[in-house]
Amino acid sequence: MKAEIRPESYSKITQVIHWATAALIIAMVPLGLIMTRLPDDADPTALYRVHVALGLIVLLLTLARIIWRFLDPNPTPEPLTMPAWRRLVFRAVNAGLYGGLVLVVATGLAMLVGSGMVPVPPEVVPDQIDDIPPRTAHRVLAWVFVIIVVSHLAGVISYQLTKGGTLGRMLPRKAR
Ligand code: HEM
Repeated sequence: MKAEIRPESYSKITQVIHWATAALIIAMVPLGLIMTRLPDDADPTALYRVHVALGLIVLLLTLARIIWRFLDPNPTPEPLTMPAWRRLVFRAVNAGLYGGLVLVVATGLAMLVGSGMVPVPPEVVPDQIDDIPPRTAHRVLAWVFVIIVVSHLAGVISYQLTKGGTLGRMLPRKAR
């Protein structure tokens, strides 16, 4: 059984995965929106392929984060002090971040596989993507995911401003 003594901060590996995933998501959303809304005379193929390649990296990072979470427990208490209702919201948003990412990536993959494509660049051809349910699901889930990410940011910022000490848990020690 794991010892009950847990660190105050997230581990280095967790921090690297967290910020790399955050940076990729910040790039993925505008990229997805731009590539699907280009004028008719522009070829979106390169952007689609970059979007898919980054999405596959996000998938690997998310799987690594989930596995790593079992091997390396999150700091406790999570986070610090908060009333029961807020802890519930915190846990729901965290679960939404993991679940949302997995679903967004899964529907992206399903859209390409369902259209008869190998879901890996350079096999991705925008014109050949069929109007199948995973396509709509990916578009809708991407927005749901953005709402979850914004909730996550709002929670962290409001906790940091009122009580402090939460952002530093995801930053390298020297930067605090
Ligand atoms: C972090 C993960 C991801 C995010 C945040 C994301 C986000 C988005 C967004 C915002 C759009 C535009 C939706 C719209 O038009 O309103 C989009 C479209 C698209 N995404 Fe993703 N995506 C992710 C992962 C993936 C993955 C892993 C794949 C494929 C393997 C993928 C394939 C696509 C494709 C093909 C489209 C174009 C859909 C169409 O033409 O209708 N995405 N994505």
